[in-house]
Amino acid sequence: MMLEPFHAHEPHQAPDDDFLDAVLHGLSLPKKSIPSRFLYDARGSDLFERITRVPEYYPTRTEIGLLTARAAEIGAALPSGAVVVEFGSGSSRKTELLLAALDRPCAYVPIDISAAALYPAARRIEQGFPDVGVYPVLGGFHDLARMRLPLGDSPLIGFFPGSTIGNFARQEAVDFLLSARRLLGPGAAFLLGADLQKPLNILLPAYNDADGVTAAFNINLLARINRDLEGTFDLDAFEHAAIYNERYHRIEMHLRSLARQSASVAGRSFFFAAGETIHTENSHKYTPERFGRLAQDGGWEVSRAFYDENRLFSVNLLA
Ligand code: AVI
Repeated sequence: MMLEPFHAHEPHQAPDDDFLDAVLHGLSLPKKSIPSRFLYDARGSDLFERITRVPEYYPTRTEIGLLTARAAEIGAALPSGAVVVEFGSGSSRKTELLLAALDRPCAYVPIDISAAALYPAARRIEQGFPDVGVYPVLGGFHDLARMRLPLGDSPLIGFFPGSTIGNFARQEAVDFLLSARRLLGPGAAFLLGADLQKPLNILLPAYNDADGVTAAFNINLLARINRDLEGTFDLDAFEHAAIYNERYHRIEMHLRSLARQSASVAGRSFFFAAGETIHTENSHKYTPERFGRLAQDGGWEVSRAFYDENRLFSVNLLA
């Protein structure tokens, strides 16, 4: 059964106003930045899918490898007859692996901000797992605190693969974990993918692949501003840069101005010095200890962690 689309809330602003406000604000800061969620318009989402397949980008294939190779142990550590609640489910590509690993899962609740991704993926899961009730919820991470799941007494399993938690600032990650805990309730389990700290010769190419797919993903943000916000960015006058910030243990994506130049957005002009950047994304990398502390600050305990043999990525079972 598929429930009618449930809107977590009526947006109080049209999405474009939100984008416009964020861009005008971000470009007015002393260190220019734009929140990474705006990287994912239709073309950005498509480019991200392509990133997950480039040889340098190890996280997706490593996590899929872990969910496949360790399926029996993961399934045995999780309750029978459970409801799986996936945060930011997108294409639900990894969900099939989890549902197949579980003993008689009874329902699947994908939560995603994009209706275009949510409903087709929900339908695909419904067809692949006829015994699993699928209840898609249209909403974003900010809506979690206000959501209620009318699901009865079945045990709940949260699922947040991909190390998307790494794209949050630390306090945002803590707030997300606290909201997930509140939503899932006491006794729930949470399966969460987290990318691990590793040498820069592996990390940097993963965010700057030879085919330029990640560069195109980053530059697409300027194309989106030009298209949706009457922007005048010269796309050839900025380059993609991925750097590792040692202090904060994170990859940062930036758009670097190749010249002294100005660009306007919705009629407002912004000046760029040569070499100045717009910070567009953080992707935090964890040691098991740092991830454990983050989970704890968010109200969870790591009860078991699965690592691949090269210790590139971790799948963590939180209680
Ligand atoms: C979605 N997220 C986990 C990706 C990451 O690795 O931080 C986004 C990404 N940005 C550049 N490449 C991939």
